[in-house]
Amino acid sequence: ARAALGRRNLVFVGLMGAGKSAIGRMTAAQLGLPFIDTDTEIERVSRMTISELFAAYGEEEFRALETRVIKRLLRSGPRVVSTGGGAFINEKTRKQIERGGISIWLKADLEVLWERVNKRDHRPLLKTENPKQTLENLMNQRYPVYELADMTVHSRDERKETIVNEVLEAII
Ligand code: S3P
Repeated sequence: ARAALGRRNLVFVGLMGAGKSAIGRMTAAQLGLPFIDTDTEIERVSRMTISELFAAYGEEEFRALETRVIKRLLRSGPRVVSTGGGAFINEKTRKQIERGGISIWLKADLEVLWERVNKRDHRPLLKTENPKQTLENLMNQRYPVYELADMTVHSRDERKETIVNEVLEAII
């Protein structure tokens, strides 16, 4: 699988809670490639948390920063990169991902996503009256765009190793 990838990056896209970071990290270890999470990188360069960035500058500024960070990350591949849920939805960022790597959509059902994001409270987009409904709305808006990814792997409630194997098989 590593040879099939060549110098290209492997980029995980999909909604929050799909497991992009956990699966990305494990896939990177299997491939012997460095792993990077774009949200973590954004927090590192800005020295702020994602929530603080949203609160201080708003979503638009966050997206601009996200585009810049991802562009830079993809230039020095090959790497495994997990992106924030909105990255692939932003046209500019999506173009960069399309140019700089192979994209994998980690697709999950609402219940699986909800189960995972419900436990944490660092997602600014879900700070709404009815976060589960918000998540469902995001699914409806974004799934047609995630469809544009090069590959789709289903992330169900199964062992992570199973999902990683599916990813590795998909890129051969
Ligand atoms: C976002 C998802 C988050 C983070 C930000 C916006 C989104 O990343 O980038 O809160 O628009 O879906 P995760 O998908 O890693 O939670």
